[in-house]
Amino acid sequence: MSETELAAPPEVLGDVPTAGPQGETPLRTPMVSPLGRARIPEPLALVVFGATGDLMRRKLMPALWRLKQEGMLPDDFAIVGNAREATDDADFRERMRGALAEFAKEPDAAEWEAFSHRLRFVGGSTDDPSTFVQLAKVLGEVDKECGTRGNRLFYLALPPSVVAQTAEGLGRAGLVCHPEDRCYTRIIVEKPFGRDLDSAKALNASLLKVFAEPQIFRIDHYLGKETLQNLLVFRFANTIWEPLWQRNYVDHVQITVSETVGVESRAGYYDRSGALRDMIQSHLLQILTLVAMEPPASYDADSIRNEKVKVLQAIPLLQGEDIDRYAVRGQYAASEESSASEKDGEKGASMPAYRDEKDVPEGSRTETFAALRLLVDNWRWAGVPFYLRTGKRLPAKQSEVVIRFRPAPHPVRDQVQDDTPAPNALVLHIQPDEGISLFFEAKVPGIRGPLRPVSMDFKYTSAFEGAESPEAYQRLLLDAMLGDATLFARRDEVEAAWTLITPILQAWEAGGEPDPYPANSWGPECATELLAREGRSWHEPTG
Ligand code: BG6
Repeated sequence: MSETELAAPPEVLGDVPTAGPQGETPLRTPMVSPLGRARIPEPLALVVFGATGDLMRRKLMPALWRLKQEGMLPDDFAIVGNAREATDDADFRERMRGALAEFAKEPDAAEWEAFSHRLRFVGGSTDDPSTFVQLAKVLGEVDKECGTRGNRLFYLALPPSVVAQTAEGLGRAGLVCHPEDRCYTRIIVEKPFGRDLDSAKALNASLLKVFAEPQIFRIDHYLGKETLQNLLVFRFANTIWEPLWQRNYVDHVQITVSETVGVESRAGYYDRSGALRDMIQSHLLQILTLVAMEPPASYDADSIRNEKVKVLQAIPLLQGEDIDRYAVRGQYAASEESSASEKDGEKGASMPAYRDEKDVPEGSRTETFAALRLLVDNWRWAGVPFYLRTGKRLPAKQSEVVIRFRPAPHPVRDQVQDDTPAPNALVLHIQPDEGISLFFEAKVPGIRGPLRPVSMDFKYTSAFEGAESPEAYQRLLLDAMLGDATLFARRDEVEAAWTLITPILQAWEAGGEPDPYPANSWGPECATELLAREGRSWHEPTG
């Protein structure tokens, strides 16, 4: 297939021009929200609950260190870790240095020495009031020693079951500033935000007893991905797509988030969750809203989130028989001999069934694959199906959005020689190989040349050579420090997503079983049928 590399478009992000690679259009710094400004946050203390856990070691500490090295943290900054286990400042600092060595880069000794005294640790459980008393004392010391001025950002890297009690503990200990105070307090809460509509509402109500909505930052790390932010720029900073971005031209939309990993060591969480809760309720619906939303009146957090909520509210609920028809589930079985992964000519190890993975209860009915067909019943999208699918143990780790345009009505289509990949489609590669491809028909050169699909590809790596995308957590942490909530889920957004998902969860919990699919395949047959019934097929991810 011939490929035409598109020239790098002029940059439109941010307000602060910085030098781009030599000879190219100068880059602007897009570190904050998609259309925001690069700023340094006010002095603050970041308090991480669950600070000895995996998230802190793998993601948060490396992200903070990168921010520091890029000069994006304030000089007056401190990190206070909390966990149940008894440890002390020295041990916590050593663990964080180890985390950087393992998941980022061994820090320079002198640089680490200068930074590490800004790390403190407070041991104790979040159900024990004395933990918060001790935390308040340490934060007082940190304010004096590190100049953090009473500003606090609390990061709850904790299981959902203890989120409400932690927020309440903070409130009772007087650790939450009020809007009229000169300092600020914000709280970051990790997904899952509840396990269904009722529990999400209860969680929101508990948080709102202590914090005001603008102080609450519900993190969905997909929103921190470079390509999802570029989706807004792609749609709203270019005029050419807008006329096509609607029911008269779009046949359907596909959103795929596939993973090669299985449940790994997370069965304790995952078996109670499943693909619908774990991925569709959050990440896939977030992607859908960005694809389908109307242009916001302005690019502040609330205008963007208002438009996203309207999309969720325009999706008709699947109910009764429609659930069987438009929502399908699967669970990975052991890989088939022939489909076991092969690398460099060697036969890959066969993969176990989900039910045989460590800590998965016998006979588990949890789905590791889910696919939905949704409609967005508004003026722009009426009648255009949005197909969503996600699963573990699929053949590729890939996230992409496919906008399939309506087929051309003219018989010139009959000359098409090769039908794959399908023509007339725009593919947004979210990860990996971030980029955008436009597939269309072209005539093979020659007097009687037939038609063949070709693609024009934009790839971040070649268009912005040398420019690295920040890690999602790096961007999201910085945004929360700056108080920019654009990339965080608002209360009504989370509840609207649960409103859509809860009837399907309830129907699935009431009976039936997920259809098995062999590990390393593209999911159960019923997912293929979901589209085949309507004369369509899943786009084969390209990367
Ligand atoms: C998390 C889910 O939110 O996202 C995991 O809980 C999933 O099950 C992960 O593996 C996928 O994230 P990413 O960024 O690797 O696509």
